[in-house]
Amino acid sequence: METLFNTSHLVQRDQRCVWHPYTQSSTANLPIPITRAKGAYLYDDQGRQYFDAISSWWIMAHGHAHPAIATRIAHQVQHLEQVVFADFTHIGAVELAERLLDLLHMPQGRVFYSDNGSTAVETALKMALQFWHQTSSKKARTKVICFEKAYHGDTFGAMSAAGRTSFNRAFWPYLFEVQTIPTPQIGNEERSINQLKHLLAADDVACFIFEPLLQGAAGMLTHSKEGLDTLLALCQQQHVLTIADEVMTGFGRTGPLFACDVLKAKPDITCLSKSLTGGFLPLGATVCSEEIFERFVSDNPHHTFLHGHTFCANALACAAALASLDLFVQPACAQQRWAIEQQHRVFQTQWQHHPRLVRCEVIGTILVVEYRDGPQTQAAYFSPLKERLKSYFLKHHIYVRPLGNVLYLMPPYCASSSDLAECYACIINSLSEVI
Ligand SMILES: Cc1ncc(COP(=O)(O)O)c(C=O)c1O
Repeated sequence: METLFNTSHLVQRDQRCVWHPYTQSSTANLPIPITRAKGAYLYDDQGRQYFDAISSWWIMAHGHAHPAIATRIAHQVQHLEQVVFADFTHIGAVELAERLLDLLHMPQGRVFYSDNGSTAVETALKMALQFWHQTSSKKARTKVICFEKAYHGDTFGAMSAAGRTSFNRAFWPYLFEVQTIPTPQIGNEERSINQLKHLLAADDVACFIFEPLLQGAAGMLTHSKEGLDTLLALCQQQHVLTIADEVMTGFGRTGPLFACDVLKAKPDITCLSKSLTGGFLPLGATVCSEEIFERFVSDNPHHTFLHGHTFCANALACAAALASLDLFVQPACAQQRWAIEQQHRVFQTQWQHHPRLVRCEVIGTILVVEYRDGPQTQAAYFSPLKERLKSYFLKHHIYVRPLGNVLYLMPPYCASSSDLAECYACIINSLSEVI
């Protein structure tokens, strides 16, 4: 396979000057130089092909280098790439906002753009806290509620909104206080509901932030739909703002276009990013109700939302998102997602009771397999199984990135049934060859 550029010594050069994310460089394997990507595959400098079983960190919904998105970006770059979004607007940003509100069934509402998932969450939290700051209420509403083991990103507000976890231990003294409730796992909803009722009784809660139905980084923990609906209804009875972090679950991952589509209660704020642009360019969107927006419309300049990011509503990213949305709404995309789910379910039926698995779950296009890891039965991010499984799958030309002992497949929707069959074979063989 011809390479696009000379990669000799690239890894040595990388190791001298680059710091990689979520990587312990004392133990990590050397990074693999990737020279191109197409559809569901990555290609390295030796021409080896890898199936991208996690959609490159949960973003490449339609697959790499999709021609419809690439063409749209190429067209956009000839006209406008970026403009200050405080004083100007552009057609891509407006059209994208209109379409997002439509897809989220919010005939009225507002879209605030930023750059990524963490900034979409920061924006949402600041919106909710400032909303209450400039609302007269009996008691100041300043508290934030989140789920135990939540993950909302790596900036300080997003880290705070996850509570104190092993991910953010070094920063505990600097994180703002949040109140946590257990996740409403099936059969365990009451604990979560009772804890929320107890916290709401104080009448000082500003907002509740949650990943709907699936907590990704926590180890792909699933929720009871009814349990989550009850929690949201309780919040809404008390006028507590609800913030759905759909950064990972959005755009079909859990089956419907948004995870919240299957809930009765609708959130006041939704955070979007990752697959919003089909994974081509970074973009965040925080979508809020008109009622929230109106609280910031005032003669008092201090009521302005003094928040923004340089690349807000970047025109190239908006063009990519519009092209990506065109693909999401086609029946073919729903059909691809449905087909992936059906295949996962066949695998699940056959393997869910394997003695070396703690659980095997399917939620939409995502298959979750939790390995029994020695005496511990809880998902553990730092389990050594993570690297062993990753290396084993890479040897078989499949790229996965387990969350400790939790392996998941979150493939691009263009994945073929034989791609998935190879992943399943690898999981099955790993049960005897890796653990
Ligand atoms: C639910 C959720 N929220 C927020 C984020 C942060 O997104 P980003 O990495 O783009 O900042 C992530 C990232 O994985 C996520 O899964």
